[in-house]
Amino acid sequence: ETSVTLNPATLSFTAVPKNRNDVVTVPAGYTATVLYRLGDPLTAATPAYRNDGTDTDFANRAGDHHDGMHYFGLAATGTARDPNSSTRGLLVMNHENITQAYLHPTGPTSGTRPEGEALKEIEAHGVSVVEVSRASATGAWTYNQASTLNRRITPNTPTVINGPVRGTAFVRTAYSPAGTDGRGTINNCANGYTPWGTMLTCEENWAGYFRRPTATDNPRRTAKEVTALTRYGVSSGTGSYGWSTVTPSNPANTVFRKWDAQATGADATADYRNEPNQYGWVVEFDPYDPTRAPRKRTALGRMNHEGAWPGVFVAGRRPAWYMGDDAVNEYLYKFVSNTAWVEADAAATDRLAIGDKYLDAGTLYVAKFNADGSGTWVPLVFGQNGITSTSTVYPFADQADVLTHARLAADVVGATRMDRPEWTAVNPVTGEMYLTLTNNSTRTPANTDAANPRAYLDPPSTSVSNRNGHILRLRETGDTTEALAFRWDNFAFGAGSDLDAANINISGLTADNDFSSPDGLWFGRTTNPSGQITPLLWIQTDDGAFTDVTNNQMLVALPGQTGDGSVRTVTNRTAAGATTTQATPMGKLLGTALKRFLVGPRECEITGIDTTPDGRTLFVNIQHPGENGDPSNITSNWPASQTGAATGSRPRSATVVITRTDGGIIGM
Ligand code: FEO
Ligand code: CA
Ligand code: CA
Ligand code: CA
Repeated sequence: ETSVTLNPATLSFTAVPKNRNDVVTVPAGYTATVLYRLGDPLTAATPAYRNDGTDTDFANRAGDHHDGMHYFGLAATGTARDPNSSTRGLLVMNHENITQAYLHPTGPTSGTRPEGEALKEIEAHGVSVVEVSRASATGAWTYNQASTLNRRITPNTPTVINGPVRGTAFVRTAYSPAGTDGRGTINNCANGYTPWGTMLTCEENWAGYFRRPTATDNPRRTAKEVTALTRYGVSSGTGSYGWSTVTPSNPANTVFRKWDAQATGADATADYRNEPNQYGWVVEFDPYDPTRAPRKRTALGRMNHEGAWPGVFVAGRRPAWYMGDDAVNEYLYKFVSNTAWVEADAAATDRLAIGDKYLDAGTLYVAKFNADGSGTWVPLVFGQNGITSTSTVYPFADQADVLTHARLAADVVGATRMDRPEWTAVNPVTGEMYLTLTNNSTRTPANTDAANPRAYLDPPSTSVSNRNGHILRLRETGDTTEALAFRWDNFAFGAGSDLDAANINISGLTADNDFSSPDGLWFGRTTNPSGQITPLLWIQTDDGAFTDVTNNQMLVALPGQTGDGSVRTVTNRTAAGATTTQATPMGKLLGTALKRFLVGPRECEITGIDTTPDGRTLFVNIQHPGENGDPSNITSNWPASQTGAATGSRPRSATVVITRTDGGIIGM
């Protein structure tokens, strides 16, 4: 294994202080400008957003809760792909959820939902594709409202089911009795991409949108179905926003009714019982072709998919995607394609056919972390490792069952239960994979392990937990995406800089870089001014533990290398004060190698990031500013507050453009 030379060895900007201001704060010498906000129109005919709750037609506007994002370059004119363009491109981003209160004039109607309100809420979820460009004269970025490439994919957009689950009983619905098609995507959180120019959007907390009162529905289901539905949390008595209560003006319109997943009869195609099985997948689509339906890539398994970030592509080697399943005590997964990488495929024009080639057949693995810093990828394959029809955990029928219920297969093989696996990121120089473990309210001193070593009291919280989260990294054996084993350590632990340095603030964070609940995670894909690739690691937070001190933030780290630290033993405490110790392999984190770059406005989370290929324009998403307020009590006026006078303005999730006054590479 070679060691990495870091260029530059230090980060040049001055750290942004923690603050609770209602603006995006960036370092001196940088500028932050708002580019694309909730409700912004995406066709020439769509009226400007009034932002008073009366707006409609969200299928032609920016959605809410901007999240995972990727920049896809465009040629100077027309619709052709140019992956090297840093002046014109498509910003593709997820709209994970909604702040329901601000979408209606005086907040939502409770009980039976009016059709117009529910349609607005549904269509404010999904994905945006929006054309953006940089004016050569001024350097200013704008989006093109009239672009023919602008697109919304919503929970109502037709999709295609691909991979091993296609056509199986799990996905047969009234909409698609053959089990080949579906409708839409929801709770799109983080993302991934492919080198052939497609977006991967990931379905995270989909289960809660469905109505399935267990008291009445469980007796109509098989024991096996109840096990699966319970494991995935499809158990809400109302569904998150009550969409299934709508009486549609067109009785044939089932886009509301489908959110009621109760079984009603013997024929599974006559009701909506299988609708939840259409969600929880990684979804690929071609941002350059709005006419083609997104494809659900079922070979990558079904879970709370946070993201799906690829490892380094090497010709002749089978590529892999790393995937967190974000819920307490869930797992880290890797999908390895059956097909070795052919570099010419990066320039193909039938991009979804290339997706079929690499993403419809492969092996799904789950991670097991050992205390000595080693680990293994365990294949989730029907017939292996106890994943059989006679398993006492769940009687698997076939590989489609394994993929649809990947969590249950991972339970069978005894994978390591993690502190909420969120984003993965891959160091473009070394291929090392980094993983945010955002926090875990259920971690106790009795059930820590080396990979999830902390359980402690952080007042004012009165319960013991991993309250501040950490970042783990992993280096594949032989530095290949095909590896079945790896080494790992913990790169950085979140903490307030005032917390116990021996056992909680064990990464030695200071006022310039203390953070909590890491979530978004991304390696810059830029070269430094000398032309060397510089792996800058960007860290975004989604935190409730530190918000009494600072709004959520984004930091930059210069990563070292797995194994550059040592084993550290921390002492954890039960609420009663008894102690246990836990050893963990530690990364080396030097104070100057991590700095706070940005602090967001009130009540937001920072999530979603990319740059142009030249690294001189950074795009970052601000999600749910003012989320605790409502029209009668507005708690943030961002983004209007970014430029001053904003009294009374409702907050909006938005994309921000960050540039350097001297035109340099961001972060260096
Ligand atoms: Fe949507 Fe786990 O964050
Ligand atoms: Ca969120
Ligand atoms: Ca997240
Ligand atoms: Ca989160």
